[in-house]
Amino acid sequence: MRICVVGGGYVGLVSSVCFAELGHFVNLIEIDENKSKAINSGMPPIYENGLKDLLSVHVGRNLHASTDYDGISGSDMSIICVGTPSSADKRLDLSMVASASESLGKSLNDGGSEKDRNAYHVVVVKSTVPPGTTEEIVIPAVLRYSGRKPDEIGFAMNPEFLREGLAVQDFMNPDRIIIGSQDKRAGDLVESAYQRINSPIIRTGIKSAEMTKYASNAFLAAKISFANEIGNVCKRLGIDVHEVMQGVGMDSRIGPRFLNAGVGFGGSCFPKDVAALIKLAQDLGEDPVLLSSVMVVNDRQPARMVELLQSRIGELEGKRVAVLGLAFKDGTDDVRESRAIPVIRALREGRAHVAAYDPMASEGMERIFPDIEYCQSAADALRGADACLVMTEWPEFSKLDKEFELMHSRIIIEGRRMLSCQDKEGICW
Ligand code: UGA
Repeated sequence: MRICVVGGGYVGLVSSVCFAELGHFVNLIEIDENKSKAINSGMPPIYENGLKDLLSVHVGRNLHASTDYDGISGSDMSIICVGTPSSADKRLDLSMVASASESLGKSLNDGGSEKDRNAYHVVVVKSTVPPGTTEEIVIPAVLRYSGRKPDEIGFAMNPEFLREGLAVQDFMNPDRIIIGSQDKRAGDLVESAYQRINSPIIRTGIKSAEMTKYASNAFLAAKISFANEIGNVCKRLGIDVHEVMQGVGMDSRIGPRFLNAGVGFGGSCFPKDVAALIKLAQDLGEDPVLLSSVMVVNDRQPARMVELLQSRIGELEGKRVAVLGLAFKDGTDDVRESRAIPVIRALREGRAHVAAYDPMASEGMERIFPDIEYCQSAADALRGADACLVMTEWPEFSKLDKEFELMHSRIIIEGRRMLSCQDKEGICW
């Protein structure tokens, strides 16, 4: 199949490389010339485990990046993977989805040969968009600018469930594939693109597919906030919440994953998607009390971490605090909505000296906090520290041992349950 992917960001690039791996011919449209060039030279502009290797296998063979939409009309299917950032009022900024739909429509109208322009084409939305977006923004724009009749073009919504750091693996081995389509023909074409993947396929309407993505992320976020709230109570009672959640998660109706209590969830998805779902519900006249509480619990966890620190070391002013982990989770250099951000902000407000270390994410955090100390190793950060805060679940932190002896005073607080030393204290255990 000939597939055009619109947007070479995280989802678009991973999807392009994986569709190429499934044997399709992929044209990736990325309007940023530098990114497009980098992709064509086999260098992914983002770090993602396994991505570079797969890209180098397919680039120049059945994968090519371009800055224009010329390939659209010769393709069977185009997939919109552009970003949907938060706007100031917590709703989503859908302008990139709108302009991609417009450009796509125009090139379906005037690109390629006569035969191409008459061939059936399916436009798929993969960007995470609020229910109604495909029908209210994408479909009208594509139909208007392409000049095609509704029966000459199909529409579908096919959300992604990729985790950063494991995106290639998640694409190739999904728990399920959701395909929402207006009609059977469009959905069948999308389904055939995944033919070589062994996974249940759920066919739905377009709005259901859009909502399935939000509901999935909101439920996972709720699981984490639930574990954190139980953890906060456990902490007061001297109970280890991880022992509790191990028992809770063994109930097959609940499941063990995403019950790791700690300093809360970050990243480019959960905080933004739950906030957008809350806004959507409110705009519809609902009061989403559960979803609002998921965010309240999450927003409070970093402050609890700093309060715990203060209860152990007193005044922050002049204290050296080692912050281990800056990425929003392990396996990525992404610091978006990282729980380390509010913690570092509070430490700086309290005039503490922050000595930070992360195996991958220092550069990203330096753009947010240019004037804290960035160390080359955990040992460097710990040397002379009055306290240590563990913010990210990097496996290398679980091996730290002798390094803690370098501290001025041994106050070790973990926001992720990682450490093996005995005298650590957890945020909620
Ligand atoms: C998440 C979802 O897991 C993906 O399915 C989804 O496709 C993606 O968002 C998206 O919408 O694009 P991701 O943001 O990469 O993926 O990260 P997760 O692995 O889900 O972790 C999110 C945050 O939750 C991290 O800060 C992590 O530390 C935290 N977390 C996770 C916990 O605090 N406890 C847990 O038990 C699990």
